Amino acid sequence: MTTFWSLYVTVLSLGTIFALTWLLLSTRKGQRSEATEETVGHSFDGIEEYDNPLPKWWFMLFVGTIIFALGYLVLYPGLGNWKGLLPGYNYLDNEKQTAFANGQSGWTGVHEWEKEMAKSDAKFGPIFAKFASMPIEEVAKDPQALKMGGRLFASNCSVCHGSDAKGAYGFPNLTDADWRWGGDAQTIKTTIMGGRHAVMPAWDQLKDQGIRDVAAFVVTNLHGRKLPEDAKADPAAGQKLFAANCVVCHGPAGKGTPAMGAPDLTHPAGFIYGSSFAQLQQTIRYGRQGQMPAQEQLQGNDKVHLLAAYVYSLSHGEKAADAE
Ligand code: HEC
Ligand code: HEC
Repeated sequence: MTTFWSLYVTVLSLGTIFALTWLLLSTRKGQRSEATEETVGHSFDGIEEYDNPLPKWWFMLFVGTIIFALGYLVLYPGLGNWKGLLPGYNYLDNEKQTAFANGQSGWTGVHEWEKEMAKSDAKFGPIFAKFASMPIEEVAKDPQALKMGGRLFASNCSVCHGSDAKGAYGFPNLTDADWRWGGDAQTIKTTIMGGRHAVMPAWDQLKDQGIRDVAAFVVTNLHGRKLPEDAKADPAAGQKLFAANCVVCHGPAGKGTPAMGAPDLTHPAGFIYGSSFAQLQQTIRYGRQGQMPAQEQLQGNDKVHLLAAYVYSLSHGEKAADAE
C-alpha cells in the first residue's frame, strides 16, 4: 500500500471511532442520572418517548466496543501499513520469514494455519520422503503413490492438461507416446520441476507463398495427406525451405529435437496447435511459445517426484487411472 492510502485508511478508521465516541459522550452530557416521567416531547401515532439517560450497562457496552476496536487495531494489522504488535503478521515484512518459523507465539490466524501445515507435513512428510527415495518407475507401480499423485495432478495440472491428462489445444496429451521434451521418467520429472519454455520462431520473412509451400510440404511429405483443392502451394519448393530453415530444430527428417522441445513433425496426432493446412500456416507465420510452469518452488521435490510417477504411469502399462 502506498503511504497515501495507508494514511487515508488510518485517518478514516480512527476518525470514525473518535467521531462515534464524541457522539456517545456528547449525547450523554447533562442528562439526569435517575429515571423521570418526562418525555422528549414528540409523539408518533400516540407513542411517546421518555427522556431517560442510557442505562449504565448499555453505555458501558458502547465504551467496551470502542476500547476493543482500539485494542484490536493496535494488535492486528488494520490501519494501513501498520502490521500489529502480534508477531504473526511480521511475515508481511519478509515473505519467507514466517512467525511459526521464528518460533514466535501469540494467536493469529496465520499462526494457526502454519501450525496446521506443519502438522500435515509431519504426518505426510515421511510418506512423501519414502516415495521420493524410490526410482520413479517403481513409484509408478504403487497404488497409494498413484492415488496421491493423481490428487496432486487434479489440483495442480488438470486446469491445463485436462482431468484425464489428455490435453487440449495448446496443451500436450500426457497419456500418449508423443513427447515434446522426452517421456522417460527422469525427463518427465525434469520437465515438471523446472518447467519448459518452447520457442518456435515466427516465419514471417518466408512471405505468404513460402509459408504456404512449407506447410504444404509438411502436409504432403511428412503426413502423407492431400492438400486442399485451392491450396496454391508447391511442396517441392516447401521442401527446400524446410531444409534451409527448419531442420536445425526439427531435424533433417522432421522427427524433432527433444532437447529444445521441437516436436516430431511427422506425427500429426501429437500436434498441439493443429495439423490442418490452415493451422500449420498459422503456426509457421506467427510462431509458438508453449510454456509449462515450473513446480519446484510450488510443490518441492517430493511432490514432484510423485507427480512424475503419476504422469509416467499414464503412458506406461500399469493403468494409474484404475487406482482411484
Ligand atoms: C498453465 C498451464 C499448465 C499447467 C498448470 C501445467 N502444465 Fe504441463 N505443460 C503446459 C504446456 C503449455 C506444455 C507444453 C510446453 C511446450 O510447448 O513444449 C506442458 C508440458 C508438460 C509436459 C511435457 C510434455 C511433453 O510432451 O514433453 C509435462 C510432463 C507436463 N507438462 C506435466 C505437468 C504437470 C505434472 C503439471 C502439474 C504439476 C503441469 N504440467 C501443469 C502447461 C501447463
Ligand atoms: C529454433 C528452433 C525451431 C525452428 C528453426 C523451427 N521450429 Fe517449429 N517448433 C519449434 C519448437 C520449440 C516448437 C514447439 C512450440 C511449442 O510447443 O509451443 C515448434 C513447433 C512447431 C509446429 C507445431 C507443432 C504442434 O504441436 O502443433 C510446427 C508445425 C512447426 N514447428 C513447424 C516448423 C517449420 C515448418 C519450421 C521451418 C519453417 C520450423 N518449425 C522451424 C522450434 C523450431
